[in-house]
Amino acid sequence: MDTYASVGGFTDEFFNNFNNHTFSEPSRMKIGLIGGTGGMGEGYALRWSVRHDVIVGSREAQKAAEAARNYTKIAIESYGSRMTGSITGDENLVVSRSSDILLLSIHYEHIAEMCAQISKQLRDDCIVISPIAPMARTGAGFVYIPLEQGKKAAAEIVADNLRHRSRVVSAFHTIPEARLKNIKESLDLDTFVCGDDWDTVTKVNNLISEIPGLRAIYLGPLSIAYQAEILTPMLLNSASRNKIKNPGIKIL
Ligand SMILES: NC(=O)c1ccc[n+]([C@@H]2O[C@H](COP(=O)([O-])OP(=O)(O)OC[C@H]3O[C@@H](n4cnc5c(N)ncnc54)[C@H](OP(=O)(O)O)[C@@H]3O)[C@@H](O)[C@H]2O)c1
Repeated sequence: MDTYASVGGFTDEFFNNFNNHTFSEPSRMKIGLIGGTGGMGEGYALRWSVRHDVIVGSREAQKAAEAARNYTKIAIESYGSRMTGSITGDENLVVSRSSDILLLSIHYEHIAEMCAQISKQLRDDCIVISPIAPMARTGAGFVYIPLEQGKKAAAEIVADNLRHRSRVVSAFHTIPEARLKNIKESLDLDTFVCGDDWDTVTKVNNLISEIPGLRAIYLGPLSIAYQAEILTPMLLNSASRNKIKNPGIKIL
């Protein structure tokens, strides 16, 4: 019979490594944000530019450059001389070519087209993060599109449209934009992480742990990323029906 540790091709060694791992600080990286002009994009740029080179992506280079200038002002005001990284902006394809880590900060309906465009641009070792939560609003409230419409999870569509499934990691679905952008705040939140390759997941976990108060909780391979994605509409329903502002999740 399968144990948890062998489900999805994962060995006991993989899980032992994960449980015993102490997350170390990664070296300075180029972090590209596809759709980085949006709300979450600003938060990622502000959080990581303190020590990495963040490149804000947009379909329009000028819009990206303007967003990068605005984010830089906010980051410098807050970090001062502690800031050793940078924020620049460029067109999405240019960003995808030069990134060590590429975060897809776009909506579900744009995944296939965007991934088809960037797929051949990516370096072989580029790690792609999907924070994408496929959601729609119906009379019942916020719902998870793959369950309602029989479609694939966002992370699966990303992996299907890129060359290396092992370089795709799913994370950040339950981090509210307002709290990510408020860099004076330590988050005191968890984020669920799914991915198929130990080294790739470790690099993403290291980046997560650089955001004050944010903890990575590993769920398993990419095939179960839907378990994290479905939590976003759940949080939005809990917020709107119970007057809770910017809810997040922490495992106790
Ligand atoms: N907001 C949250 O609190 C939150 C929390 C957890 C997860 N998420 C997930 O994070 C992702 C980004 O959310 P967000 O709130 O930052 O979204 P957003 O503010 O709407 O920004 C998304 C970006 O997508 C780009 N875009 C728009 N139409 C596009 C198209 N046709 N093709 C390619 N790019 C397009 C836009 O950039 P340009 O116009 O500059 O190209 C835009 O800035 C979503 O998948 C969401 O589910 C959000």
